[in-house]
Amino acid sequence: MDLVEVRFRAAGKTVFVQPGTTLLAAAEMATVEIMTGCTRGMCGTDAVRVTLDPADALEPPEDHEAGTLDRMGVPEGCRLACSARVRRGVVEVLGDALV
Ligand code: FES
Repeated sequence: MDLVEVRFRAAGKTVFVQPGTTLLAAAEMATVEIMTGCTRGMCGTDAVRVTLDPADALEPPEDHEAGTLDRMGVPEGCRLACSARVRRGVVEVLGDALV
């Protein structure tokens, strides 16, 4: 199984993780701190902006994540680190969605 590359731009760190790993777990592996709250896709504390290569480098959001993102009104290209799972290719975490 091919590993997925996850880059954290602000920290200048990159890790390679198994498909299905959350962005939050990848951040922990890279020793990059992401502020969290519930870790269940409900509070939105860990919303981050991402770029994907290819476009489906992340699994689509499950209902609870999609609902929280919708409620927050964040722009497209933002995901919740605790809930977004990598699928393939390269995911770059650009920074906090609300900054
Ligand atoms: S930590 Fe609450 S939504 Fe991710």
